[in-house]
Amino acid sequence: MSAKQKRFFLSEDEIPRYWYNIQADMVNKPMPPLNPQTKEPLKPEDLYPIFAKELCHQELDQENAWIEIPEPVREYYKYWRSTPLVRAYGLEKALGTPAHIYFKNESVSPIGSHKLNSAIPQAYYCQQEGVTNVTTETGAGQWGAALSYAAKLFGLEAAVYQVKISYEQKPYRRSIMQTFGAQVTPSPSMSTRAGKDILTQTPNHQGSLGTAISEAIELARTTPNCKYTLGSVLSHVSLHQTIIGLEAEKQMEMAGEYPDIVIGCFGGGSNFAGISFPFMRHTIKDGRKTRYIAAEPASCPKLTRGKFQYDFADEAGYTPLLPMYTLGHKFAPANIHAGGLRFHGAGVIVSQLLKDGLMEAVDIPQLETFETGCLFARAEGIIPAPESCHAIAAAVREAKKCIETGEEKVILFNLSGHGLVDMASYDQYLAGNLMNYSLPDEMIEKSLES
Ligand SMILES: Cc1ncc(COP(=O)(O)O)c(C=O)c1O
Repeated sequence: MSAKQKRFFLSEDEIPRYWYNIQADMVNKPMPPLNPQTKEPLKPEDLYPIFAKELCHQELDQENAWIEIPEPVREYYKYWRSTPLVRAYGLEKALGTPAHIYFKNESVSPIGSHKLNSAIPQAYYCQQEGVTNVTTETGAGQWGAALSYAAKLFGLEAAVYQVKISYEQKPYRRSIMQTFGAQVTPSPSMSTRAGKDILTQTPNHQGSLGTAISEAIELARTTPNCKYTLGSVLSHVSLHQTIIGLEAEKQMEMAGEYPDIVIGCFGGGSNFAGISFPFMRHTIKDGRKTRYIAAEPASCPKLTRGKFQYDFADEAGYTPLLPMYTLGHKFAPANIHAGGLRFHGAGVIVSQLLKDGLMEAVDIPQLETFETGCLFARAEGIIPAPESCHAIAAAVREAKKCIETGEEKVILFNLSGHGLVDMASYDQYLAGNLMNYSLPDEMIEKSLES
């Protein structure tokens, strides 16, 4: 390694050939998702009407630690992978910290975030079984953009329900999806029964990932040859995202370091899982002492203030019941600009890991995230997505502790996306128009009861 190497890359040949399935190595396996009618544990076949078959098997696989990445998927991964592992010298200097800060830059993907890592295999498996149409939900539009592009790569038609508040806050993400040929509808909409029910009850509903998931599932169920795809929460999505941490593991080795702390922002858990699970396998198997921190918004704090229980992943209750940390599936998050983190629940694997004390969670107020986003932009030249700002803020908190203790901790975080399509949010922040939201305990209790 040169004295001050900034970025670390892998050659195309070194891009991983397998995803890592942490379920196989977990001592306490995640509890099974349940059929909401029978309350029986779900079998892969129960999910066939909604998802591509291969994804249903990946979802419930607790035996195979390594799942081969299909060659056509790996070929498309080469369009931007490996993503750089970057030593954040600029940020370290700006903070005056002795910590060594690294970030994995997933913002270099064609659509600007990590979401393409799962969109490509999901579209691939759909095409393999003869599906012609795919549908999904999207918050800030990052997942919708990824799926729209992936669908085009495999000759599929895509229909995306975008959370209404984000549809309005981030109009260019809609343009991106449409540029890739997708149909985009703000959710809740009058185009589905679920949407109509929600709008009848709450005419001004601003939408949430929960409402958009209900609408997309309904479309998949009622349209021939159409499958639903999901950009987070589910275990197969986390599986695909492990490409991030598997690359990072090799790149950290090139840098001659190993992380003491691994951090990801947290919506449903996929990028956090992606960066952390490959490292966590050394904690589970070899007792390696690394801290894993999920950074969530203070206004949507399912990991830090939610309850571990069976709950639906969507507003209307169409999904299986998942054992997870949740704020209740009727929880309507505040209109923060990190649209991708406005989700009431957490994936089942991450929920079990948190319950078992293998990872930690922190919640970050909105103003701190944008303050950190500006600091990072000025120090490293990359404007982070509002979601990613949560991970950076958590990393900055840890780096500041090192100033006090003098420790040279190695901190690795995932830069899940860039914020160039989120400049309206930065505008609002710079104009002093953004606020923190308080969330009284009673509101969470009420939402969990409903
Ligand atoms: C840039 C970015 N980061 C993070 C997330 C959160 O999702 P997840 O927790 O699945 O990584 C999103 C979701 O839309 C996103 O767009």
